[in-house]
Amino acid sequence: MSTVKVAPSILSCDFSKMGEEIKRLDESNCDYIHIDVMDGHFVPNLTFGPPIIQAIRKFTKKPFDVHLMISEPEKYLDVYAGSGADLLGIHVEIAHDKIELLKKIRSLGIKASLTYNPNTPVEGIEKYFPFVDQILIMSVFPGFGGQKFIEESLERGKKVSAWIQKSGYPIDLEIDGGVSDVNASRIREAGFNVLVSGNALFQAPSLDGMIQKLKGM
Ligand code: DX5
Ligand code: ZN
Repeated sequence: MSTVKVAPSILSCDFSKMGEEIKRLDESNCDYIHIDVMDGHFVPNLTFGPPIIQAIRKFTKKPFDVHLMISEPEKYLDVYAGSGADLLGIHVEIAHDKIELLKKIRSLGIKASLTYNPNTPVEGIEKYFPFVDQILIMSVFPGFGGQKFIEESLERGKKVSAWIQKSGYPIDLEIDGGVSDVNASRIREAGFNVLVSGNALFQAPSLDGMIQKLKGM
């Protein structure tokens, strides 16, 4: 049994048949379904909002890992939780008090995740550990699928993984952007245990085949 989880990013799925795509993921060995919410402000792209998340919720019971790339998540946490998120992630770069928002997410009965962009220093991250279930290290600048993996993310992951272990908090370490079978073993070795993958998974001839490769099985 692998302890590594795989979270397909539906940013790379066929939007014209989302129900079918979610059913396909439901029948696969994936662990989460990663949903990229973009507001055209925090990142230069627009994607899904709560009505879409609610609509696809009925096709699967797999946990929804909702990655909020939005400038003002404080206005929408209730509505995203209500639409079917199981994990709700905010970015550390937003203006609002992060600890307050992470507490709010947990108070809504779901898991809280905190995301770091590739150029945001991870030093000082320990102050958030008591309030998070997952840390997400971006390995591309957010906004689009299919970008090239930023190699420096591995060193950042190693540091954060060591700090998490030292702290004793049961925090998952997720990576997102450019993840494929080419870099998965190095990613796992760096200490990441949740791998998001969009293009590599949706372009693979076999979804489960690629999931196994990402898990190192
Ligand atoms: C980027 C998104 C990612 C992206 C991953 O802003 O957060 O989840 O869709 O896709 P790939 O694996 O294609 O880089
Ligand atoms: Zn994402």
